[in-house]
Amino acid sequence: MCGIAGYIGEKQALPFLINGLKKLEYRGYDSAGIAIYHEGRIEVRRQTGKIAELERSIAGQTIEGTQGIAHTRWATHGVPSNRNSHPHRDTDGHIAVVHNGIIENYLELRGELEDKGYTFTSETDTEVIPNLIADCFKGDLLAAVEEAKARLRGSYAAVCMSQDDPGRLIGIRQDSPLIIGYGDDGNYFASDIPALIGYVKSYTVLKNGETAVMTKEGVTIYVDGSAVEPEVEALTMDLDAAEKGGYEHFMLKEIIEQPRALKDCLSGRISYGKHVVDLGELKLNAAKMEKINKIVMVACGTAYHACYVGRYIYEKMLRIPVEVEIASEFRYRDPILDEKTLTIVVSQSGETADTLAALAEAKRKGSHILAITNVWESSIAREAHDVIYTRAGLEIAVASTKAYTTQVLAIYLLGLYMAELKGKMIRREIQTIINELYRLPDKVQKIFDDQLDTIKAMAEKIADHEDAFFIGRDLDYVVALEGALKLKEISYIHAEAYAAGELKHGTLALIVDQVPVISVCTQKILEEKMISNIKEAQTRDGQIFAIAFEGDPVISSVADHVCYLPKTNDLLAPILTVIPLQLIAYYASVKRGADVDKPRNLAKSVTVE
Ligand code: F6R
Repeated sequence: MCGIAGYIGEKQALPFLINGLKKLEYRGYDSAGIAIYHEGRIEVRRQTGKIAELERSIAGQTIEGTQGIAHTRWATHGVPSNRNSHPHRDTDGHIAVVHNGIIENYLELRGELEDKGYTFTSETDTEVIPNLIADCFKGDLLAAVEEAKARLRGSYAAVCMSQDDPGRLIGIRQDSPLIIGYGDDGNYFASDIPALIGYVKSYTVLKNGETAVMTKEGVTIYVDGSAVEPEVEALTMDLDAAEKGGYEHFMLKEIIEQPRALKDCLSGRISYGKHVVDLGELKLNAAKMEKINKIVMVACGTAYHACYVGRYIYEKMLRIPVEVEIASEFRYRDPILDEKTLTIVVSQSGETADTLAALAEAKRKGSHILAITNVWESSIAREAHDVIYTRAGLEIAVASTKAYTTQVLAIYLLGLYMAELKGKMIRREIQTIINELYRLPDKVQKIFDDQLDTIKAMAEKIADHEDAFFIGRDLDYVVALEGALKLKEISYIHAEAYAAGELKHGTLALIVDQVPVISVCTQKILEEKMISNIKEAQTRDGQIFAIAFEGDPVISSVADHVCYLPKTNDLLAPILTVIPLQLIAYYASVKRGADVDKPRNLAKSVTVE
């Protein structure tokens, strides 16, 4: 997730570009840059760090021009550094591009362009775009962009300009947002509304596949080479509402963003119909994996629950023992591990002090450390031997949602990668799971489309209680753990998760007076056992809220309320089952009037032990 701003008009471009980026800083802040056209030349300035660093680096310089583009970056390909910052230019420096998204076939394109003599100065996927446009350029920037666009695979919102065809900015969009703003003194591009507030009174959201040609006089939108009438909306939102994408809270926005985040996490790592998982250049290769006889997964809170999914699936896929450890306990236990142990640390922020200390302890004992994190160059990313980035984008709400699902997805990808290295799963099995992983983002979207009212109604009932219990078996149990944490941290309802079979060993004593028992029931081979546990709770006057796959008549015959999810492979169920649990917590919190995004006593990043 990155931020884009662009302007062409009567005024100097620089003030809007800097202000626009500041409003988009929540989309990424590891580096920033601007490109401004003036008198036949494009001037570029780029700087690692926040927008303030960029501002400091250009203070006192005169950067004139009424046409420019700008970018704030959240790194996906290539570390945050000046040379990886946007805008990127072609080899001759005549074409400048800012880009948000991931170009999946960039290695193939880069190879092709290098063979033709183009040179690259960054590690990014973006740099292929200006070079590809340059390769197609015969005097008309629009024609070159259209030709280049046809070669790009992946997701993108990109804006470009050329000093050889000045007077226009060209924007393209596929699966990443790009907005056009219409002002009195010129026209604007931005990847989100906040950048445009105060500058424009109306806007158009560019659609997938469209190309926008912007001049200071106006904007023309093309689909397959033909101009189309834009849908123009009045801009009425205030800044706070705009930053939340029109949602009431960041948490809801981040929940709804999950299909996008999951797609980004998968992008370029798997291909439909193939059995290979590409996780970049991991040091964890076949020779290293051969020696691994134990996996330890360490984290805190929600990330710890993601590890729990890892334990269940790795043991099934790899037949290697897996231990899951709470980071704050791990380091003081003098844990037994050595160079034959693979330690996987999971952390959204990459800065959690307990997890960092656990990592150091495992490293000291000779274990190979693989980090799964959302933040480039975070302390945990830097300390680990290998890193897999989750690409969830910036998460602002304290309660983690999209970070969890992308952590779980990264854990699956790693599992498949290790299974292939170890020869533990046959290629057909890996391919079947990869094909289903491909479908998961759309299935998450289907939950939002079909089940939101059901989930909201469930949450409103649960919100009237002071206690709630979450039960499940196997992979449903590990998601129940996360459901209970979400509910307690933002609604302040006391919530506990139990392996369903464990309820009768004590906790059943608390199931009285319609207390909510949220039952996750997707694991087919355990369904009968699960039904017995539900019955035990219902007989004691528990109120049963079930989460099940669609087309499961048994559950609907026993539960009081059911939320149905699109069917997926049982192994992949956690990515779907957690969605209604996140939403239950969210709507229960809203109903109880709690501060959803900033729950009491909690912080987003816990950097003390
Ligand atoms: C709960 C939550 C926390 C974090 C935990 C670890 O919603 O967000 O439990 O998961 O503090 O944080 P990271 O993943 O940044 O290490």
